[in-house]
This record gives sequence, C-alpha cells and structure tokens, in this order.
Amino acid sequence: MARRPMVAGNWKMYKTAGEGAILTQNIDPLVADFWEDVEVVVCPPFTALKSVSTVIELDRLKMGLGAQDVHWEDEGAFTGAIAPRMLVDLRCDYVIVGHSERREYFGETDETVNKKAHAVFAANMVPIVCVGESLAVREAEETEAFVRGQVRAAVEGLSAEQAARLVIAYEPVWAIGTGRTPTPEGANDVCRSIRATVGAVFGQPAAISVRVLYGGSVKPENASMFFAEPDIDGALVGGAALDAASFASIVQAAR
Ligand code: 13P
Repeated sequence: MARRPMVAGNWKMYKTAGEGAILTQNIDPLVADFWEDVEVVVCPPFTALKSVSTVIELDRLKMGLGAQDVHWEDEGAFTGAIAPRMLVDLRCDYVIVGHSERREYFGETDETVNKKAHAVFAANMVPIVCVGESLAVREAEETEAFVRGQVRAAVEGLSAEQAARLVIAYEPVWAIGTGRTPTPEGANDVCRSIRATVGAVFGQPAAISVRVLYGGSVKPENASMFFAEPDIDGALVGGAALDAASFASIVQAAR
C-alpha cells in the first residue's frame, strides 16, 4: 500500500493560543481539497494546543494535531513537564520526539528519545522521531552511520506493528533555519538508509509502511523537489509553517 504523505508544521516557540487558532483557521481552506492525498498536521506549543484542538473539533477540520515534546512518565513530580495522557486529553494524534533543538538545548538523549517513543505509543499517539547529523558529522562523511545509530536507539524495543506506524523526520541540523539544504538526492539517500534500518530491525513490512519525512529549510520553492524522491514521504516544516499560504503551498506540493 502506498504511504500517505504527511506535511507537519512545527511551530516551535511561536504563536499564542489566540494566534494559533487563527493560523489554523487560515490554513484550513487552503488545504481542505488535499486532505485525502496528504495528511496535514500542526504542532503548536503546549499553550496553544487547547485552542487549536478546539478549532479542529468545532470546525471539523481534517487536520492532525501534534505536540512538540512529552515526558515519558504517566504523571509525577516533574515540574514543567507534560505527560502523554495530558496530550491525549487535548486530542493530540502525534508528538515530535527528539527534535535537534531539544537534543541541543534541553539535554535530550537517544535514551530519553526511546523512552518517549514508547510512552507516546503506549498512550495511543504516534511519535514523529527526529534524527539528523551536525555539520561536523557531515564533514567527516559519517552522516549515514550516525543517523542509523540514532534510529536504532530511538526504536529499540518497539514492536514491528508500532514501527510500521512510526514517523521519522530526517532533519540535518545544519539545514534547520539556515536556508541551506542537502540536494534532494542526498536527502533521499539518508531517508532510504533510515527505511533500511527500520527494515533490518523490524522486517520489510515495517520498512514499507514507516513514513520518513525530510525537514530543514523546506519552502514552497523547494518542497516539490524533495517530494519527488521515492523515500521522502513528506516534510516537517519550521519557519514556513508559520504562514498559512506558505504552509499550504508545501501541502499542495506533496499531493
Ligand atoms: P525550518 O523549516 O525553519 O528550517 O525548521 C525545520 C525544523 O526544525 C522542523 O522541525
């Protein structure tokens, strides 16, 4: 079965609750014709999840909702943290796990990424696991080995059925917010290697089903080149997801 492309917007630390609701309402009419072909997901900051979720529900939008992080415990004395069941309560479908900004600034490790991936599945949501190499790793020509290691660590102990539903976003750290990107062929090589890693651990059906997104300076101008690649199933979009028209034209390119 063909994989359904996904375009997910990672809003990072932008948009208040009110601004997020308006952005969601503005995106919807621009993408409504494409939802059967492309799964559209928005990932607002925690404080805007409720308002965006309410817009999605009341206006019956065909849009998925994702959070940008989660704790792996069900509850407990973890000041500032958010539990999976709190996100389920707000009707989240997805959680971004292991974004390079979480790894760089907030101490996320391969081990916590794996714990979070398990916790997200246990709560009946789906993790969007982020992997990607730094410029130093790229210059040392160790990209594929490095990314394969991140993937293996992230998926350890998952079931084949979970791996098949997983979303993995390949985001080279040096391409995030910089306007620089790998070539589409180069990005596809890494995405193919990610898929092969899932296949080596869980078998061919999981490799065929797992969705692998590209992320890092995806814009309306370059999106279709990435989407033309066979192992790239969509995009995780940062800056361009904050503008309804830009985000919608990336969704359109993914059809
Ligand atoms: P940009 O699209 O702004 O480069 O961000 C990519 C990203 O980090 C998405 O998670």
